[in-house]
Amino acid sequence: MKIWFFLLLICNFAFADESTDWQTQSYKQSKHLPDLHHVVDVKLLDEMQPPAEFFLKEDKKIGCKTCHGLEKIAETPYDKIDKNAPDFLRKDGYKKLEMFCSNCHDKKAHERPNIHLMLNDDGSIKKENCLFCHSEINEQREKVRLLVDTNLRLSPEKVCLGCHLKTPHFNAVEHTDANLKTLENSKSSARNMKNNLKKTEKEQGVHLPISENDEVLCLTCHSPHAKGVLGEKNPASNQVNGDIKKGVEYEKHSWNDVMEADKRERLEKIAATLPPYQRLKNEVLLRLPAKDGTLCLSCHEFEN
Ligand code: HEC
Ligand code: HEC
Ligand code: HEC
Ligand code: HEC
Ligand code: HEC
Ligand code: HEC
Repeated sequence: MKIWFFLLLICNFAFADESTDWQTQSYKQSKHLPDLHHVVDVKLLDEMQPPAEFFLKEDKKIGCKTCHGLEKIAETPYDKIDKNAPDFLRKDGYKKLEMFCSNCHDKKAHERPNIHLMLNDDGSIKKENCLFCHSEINEQREKVRLLVDTNLRLSPEKVCLGCHLKTPHFNAVEHTDANLKTLENSKSSARNMKNNLKKTEKEQGVHLPISENDEVLCLTCHSPHAKGVLGEKNPASNQVNGDIKKGVEYEKHSWNDVMEADKRERLEKIAATLPPYQRLKNEVLLRLPAKDGTLCLSCHEFEN
């Protein structure tokens, strides 16, 4: 063992010049941090008060052991560091990386601003927000426009992605991958959806846009604007009345018992991976309420 260690040392010394790949060396040797790694040897700011196990170096500076729980991480060659070790990052950091940062950084100050909050307290619009999605501000907010005339920076299929995942929730992809034109010619129960949609738009005075190719969009169900941004007479302004600041909220509901029973019976294998049934409590940025099924029934029909 000792000899092996000795040889390793020699080897390392022998090759520890600049041409050697830093990954086979330790931080002590190379003074090289992994790409995009957090800064080290900076002083903790006064307002940062991490838990006690985030050991600091002298002068309140942060070093490897401030954030990593591994002994001798600075002395271990990078390719020998066990990144899967439970205490690789302190406080279960890998499981909740965002939470990990908030051990020092103020969470509020780093939260991404909710650009859907588009109105100032006096009711005027925050013009800078419009430009996240529009290449120019659409004045005349009463005027009804075609989707192609709304000056979007990206196509309607893409405008939400980047900030949101393609899979923000269950069944989103099943919908956005669906083409109502194809279904129109099929024998499935989805046959009447495009008609149903147009009928709902007329009857309820809402805007339920689909793509040029008749695909369902995030925008079919969701309104990107806060209520009050578009003129009241514009059907695109109609939406549920929830508190956007609170965001979508769910609450416990007795149907979860049914859902649980169903899960046990039919889905034994994957039951553990399904979330509990929860009831929508606060609906926001939706063109029609989903809570009572109105939105869903704008395409789907109840089967008897
Ligand atoms: C402020 C906290 C902090 C300090 C101080 C810190 N690290 Fe890290 N380190 C992290 C975080 C967070 C990650 C995980 C980054 C990720 O997965 O995106 C990480 C990742 C790593 C990785 C894996 C990189 C990879 O891409 O696989 C190594 C190796 C590492 N750190 C070594 C060190 C060494 C050596 C030091 C001391 C010189 C150090 N760290 C100091 C927070 C810190
Ligand atoms: C142990 C405390 C601590 C933790 C945990 C921590 N940071 Fe830091 N971070 C600092 C300190 C201290 C600075 C330097 C602050 C300064 O001088 O303004 C800093 C600076 C930064 C900077 C600016 C870096 C630069 O080059 O100027 C960024 C970005 C950052 N941290 C992101 C993160 C992220 C992301 C995480 C979580 C993966 C994280 N930090 C976790 C303490 C921490
Ligand atoms: C998150 C992206 C996003 C932001 C931010 C945004 N919009 Fe829009 N806007 C859209 C999309 C997508 C459409 C087309 C779908 C629709 O009409 O609802 C649209 C359509 C419009 C329309 C035409 C509505 C119609 O169909 O007749 C107006 C007017 C408008 N936006 C004004 C604004 C103003 C003013 C702001 C800033 C306060 C703003 N938008 C911010 C995405 C956005
Ligand atoms: C520039 C980034 C950005 C774009 C583009 C964007 N969003 Fe958002 N959206 C956010 C942020 C930030 C929040 C606040 C909650 C969060 O952080 O997830 C949010 C919240 C939401 C919520 C409410 C979720 C909740 O619980 O707060 C819905 C629904 C939503 N967005 C739909 C859309 C749709 C549909 C589009 C495309 C028209 C879109 N967004 C485009 C950044 C964006
Ligand atoms: C078939 C209708 C439908 C489609 C299509 C759809 N959503 Fe949703 N979405 C909902 C409903 C219903 C909710 C929960 C109620 C609410 O938003 O108020 C929701 C919730 C959300 C939330 C909040 C999630 C949470 O639990 O906090 C985000 C973010 C979101 N949608 C973004 C998107 C994006 C991005 C797309 C396109 C990739 C999309 N949605 C497509 C109906 C839909
Ligand atoms: C814009 C029209 C539209 C709206 C609104 C809509 N759907 Fe759908 N939904 C579809 C289409 C299209 C499909 C795909 C049908 C197919 O492929 O046969 C689908 C499929 C589904 C599926 C089956 C997914 C799968 O994996 O097979 C579920 C569940 C569903 N929708 C629930 C809902 C719920 C709940 C709502 C209301 C929140 C809703 N839908 C609103 C058009 C819509």
